[in-house]
Amino acid sequence: MVPVIAIDRAAPRPLHRQLYEGLRVSITDGTLRAGQRLPSSRGLASELGLSRITVLNAYAQLLAEGYLQSRIGSGTVVCRSLPDQAGVWNPQAGNGVRSRSARRRLSQRARLLDPVSLTHAAFGRNPESARSGAFVLGQVALSDFPFQLWKGLLTRRARATCTESLDYGDNVGSRALREEIASYLRTARATRCQADQIMIVSGSQQALEIATRVLLDPGDGVWMEEPGYRFARNIFRVHGCRIVPVRVDREGLDVHHGIKRYRAARAALVTPSHQYPTGVTMSASRRFQLLEWAERSGAWIIEDDYDSEYRFDSMPVGCLQGLDQAARVIYVGTFSKVLFPSLRLGYLVIPPDLMERFIAVRLAMDIAPPAFQQAVLADFIREGHFSRHLRRMRLLYAQRRSALVESIRNEFGDEAEITGEQAGMHLSLTLRGISDRHLAELAGQQNLWLAPLSYSYIEKNRRQGFILGFGSTSAEEIPAAVRKLRALVDSARRVSSVKPQLVAS
Ligand SMILES: Cc1ncc(COP(=O)(O)O)c(C=O)c1O
Repeated sequence: MVPVIAIDRAAPRPLHRQLYEGLRVSITDGTLRAGQRLPSSRGLASELGLSRITVLNAYAQLLAEGYLQSRIGSGTVVCRSLPDQAGVWNPQAGNGVRSRSARRRLSQRARLLDPVSLTHAAFGRNPESARSGAFVLGQVALSDFPFQLWKGLLTRRARATCTESLDYGDNVGSRALREEIASYLRTARATRCQADQIMIVSGSQQALEIATRVLLDPGDGVWMEEPGYRFARNIFRVHGCRIVPVRVDREGLDVHHGIKRYRAARAALVTPSHQYPTGVTMSASRRFQLLEWAERSGAWIIEDDYDSEYRFDSMPVGCLQGLDQAARVIYVGTFSKVLFPSLRLGYLVIPPDLMERFIAVRLAMDIAPPAFQQAVLADFIREGHFSRHLRRMRLLYAQRRSALVESIRNEFGDEAEITGEQAGMHLSLTLRGISDRHLAELAGQQNLWLAPLSYSYIEKNRRQGFILGFGSTSAEEIPAAVRKLRALVDSARRVSSVKPQLVAS
């Protein structure tokens, strides 16, 4: 007896494939038992109304995969050495996990982070996601990107592609791009570097991951700005580091506070040019204090210089790395803000004596960055488009920033505290008597994208407010969007006077 196998003649899948799958399921779910004899190919063909060649093809595949055995004299039988219900993953069956399976143990590392759902992971691409509306954080003015020009460069590079270019590229990134970046950083960011210190990566996130693997062990203390960059926190957590939140004030990271909390920390992650999220610039005296602490205590400084190119009321502030006399700073840069985030290109500037270690660690996780986009980007910089684009964007963002500050002043007066409006593509707005998380949820329904400030804190003492991105919100849209925000705050306050739990303590 052969189990009933549904064959659908109208289905696009070939008949022998359907038969093969039907038999395989019957074997793995135990309907056909180990050692059980199958009908002859002729017999099964006539029973199912198939051609004999169809049955022979299905049997041949099952024989090749070891589900069936064929012996002269005994015909074709189900393999005797298959365990009961050998099991193939069946996506239709619940979560695909059988109840008698042993515990599905994951690494401690993986369990340190909250799982992220597929819908959440698709945040940039899903049209129904919350990443739309006014004030989206970290979104650049995509429609003002010189797209036709970029496409022209892509096409030119694609035409010039030759078979040699299909091989692995340089492990640390293309020489041409590293030369362009080094020369840009020396002039625009006062960075002290040569192309040989640069490693191309897939963005700041990968840069921080590599730096952490090279510099830190589980249990090592790391100073993090409080409030600070959430995505970096997860990297340190996954590596078992001890995160030490260090207060940020109007001068940036409070170095004395860090020393008081944990002098022996092995590293500090800082955003000195435009602190994330408050936007303050680290003062010169704090910069020297930080460098001195690092030099004396043998700690590393990781400088995340993610959006410092856009400074509106003065020249861009030089980076911390350029002041470092002791080669203690690892500098991280990205093209996500100055060009566009799907490019996934960023870079590390590494002290020369650490370069070989960084390369070894990078090779253990990724052999080389993709070559094609690097070549296009090198062309874009070399031919002057990058500096032109930066100049244009600086003006555009300055306009958006001014519209936003003015609208906030009009709608909120002294009640709102604004910080970080001198640079970058976001500012930080602090408001009293609100729950920023609750308001952010309501705002989604009004086409406002509000990033709660409180998420950026590790400790309990959190300021309430929003990190407002103005990169992708036009100056014309801003006044109406701020009025909506005002109305939302007012109505939440009214409700919270009835239901006090909606107001942050
Ligand atoms: C503080 C900070 N660093 C870095 C980045 C950029 O990350 P990536 O280069 O991985 O896109 C962001 C993006 O929002 C950021 O806010």
